[in-house]
Amino acid sequence: MRQHRRAIALLATFASLLACSPADAPAAAGHRPGASGIGDTDFPDDGNGGYDVSHYDLAIDYTPATRRLDGVATIKAGATQGLSSFNLDLLGLDVRQVTVNGSPATFTHQGGELTVRPAKPIDDRATFTARVRYSGRPQPATSTTNLGTFGFIPTADGAFVASEPNGSKTWFPSNDHPSDKATFAFTITVPAGVTALANGELTGEPTTSGGRTTYRWSERHPMATYLATATMGTFKLRKGSTPAGVPNLAAADPRFASSLDKLYKASGEITDYWSTVFGPYPFGSTGGVVDDYTAGYALENQTKPLYGGFEPDEGIIAHELAHQWFGNSLTIRRWKDLWLNEGFATYAEWLWSEHKGKKTADEIFEGHHNRPAGDPMWKYPPGRAKPDDLFNQSVYTRGGMTLHALRRAVGDGTFFRLLKAWAADNRYGHVTTEQFIELAERMSGKDLKPLFAAWLYQPRRPA
Ligand code: TRP
Ligand code: ZN
Repeated sequence: MRQHRRAIALLATFASLLACSPADAPAAAGHRPGASGIGDTDFPDDGNGGYDVSHYDLAIDYTPATRRLDGVATIKAGATQGLSSFNLDLLGLDVRQVTVNGSPATFTHQGGELTVRPAKPIDDRATFTARVRYSGRPQPATSTTNLGTFGFIPTADGAFVASEPNGSKTWFPSNDHPSDKATFAFTITVPAGVTALANGELTGEPTTSGGRTTYRWSERHPMATYLATATMGTFKLRKGSTPAGVPNLAAADPRFASSLDKLYKASGEITDYWSTVFGPYPFGSTGGVVDDYTAGYALENQTKPLYGGFEPDEGIIAHELAHQWFGNSLTIRRWKDLWLNEGFATYAEWLWSEHKGKKTADEIFEGHHNRPAGDPMWKYPPGRAKPDDLFNQSVYTRGGMTLHALRRAVGDGTFFRLLKAWAADNRYGHVTTEQFIELAERMSGKDLKPLFAAWLYQPRRPA
């Protein structure tokens, strides 16, 4: 890698000596390297600067027995500055070739950063297509903090692919940060008998030739990279639609065959119920996938939440499906606002319990509020998720409690109108905590700053 980098630097110097008159020198033309991070100060290397992706076309060939992946990623983007070079996030794997607008580009690949220098610099506002051919054995990410194992996780029969918060770079080159959403197309080729499950809908029947089957999936709504999946393995499937007519696909590893019908029915019923509470379902299909990898957790992969090694109950299905609105359709710009995902999804679990005539949200809130003053949750203000402890329980539970405190303050009518307006106004977009507070104040006509300060930002138990 080092050698390669030095060679490129030499080449660049040589090229500039040969070719650059002052008038077309890169700096004079306003072309400069894109930043190696998108600007999330908690995750300085995540994402990249200088462009915005509109579409990923991922062609992936994977063989579970050898764990080898061959990929071609075609990335359509628009420059937000003149670019002499730009970065993509990619961790591990060998980059074979990069082209930009069809012409070979030089590149370096170090750590999680692939730096691409196009033959011709890219002008500000220009759209461009980068194509990356790569291959190797993907390795999941194992974070030094408390995120566990995530990204592309090989299994005996395929792979369990759950990439939050920044594990997409373990299986495709991307602008791996939620502040850049894009549409996706997947063409996944696996040995015949293996099922490949990606986001969105199948665009045709799978085709088999020479003992390999190709699945084509399309997610036509904008999606954050961490929600992309290409989960592969032996699966039992149930296809149909929810009672209200949303296409519904459930998949279960044979070890969890007995969960299939329950997952299918609960996902359908819950999708339809959330559509009445949060507003129309934002995507083209719903459902879920139960794999036998014992993650012990679930991820809200867009249109296909993924459950790792357990039979999901209605509570967790309600949680992951609520994320389709809060997190997936409405996406955070910065990880510090994670409570807008997890607090809402946790509160949705309480709403589901209330809906089913079990404990009410108020009873669940009271149970948590009664925790002793020394409970660690009171020390962790959920409105500012910490990068070294992003998924702290406070972001979930105290985040959910924040919404219940708000519901008590503004009343049920305003609260449920607010949830719908929040989802409608920001459908497919990006959100911040400040925007939520502003909308809550506007719709209630109340000064809610003290409430949000106490619940989201103070390191002590709110009264
Ligand atoms: N967002 C998930 C949830 O609460 C939790 C999660 C975070 C996760 N990072 C992950 C799950 C990585 C799987 C892989 O539903
Ligand atoms: Zn969640």
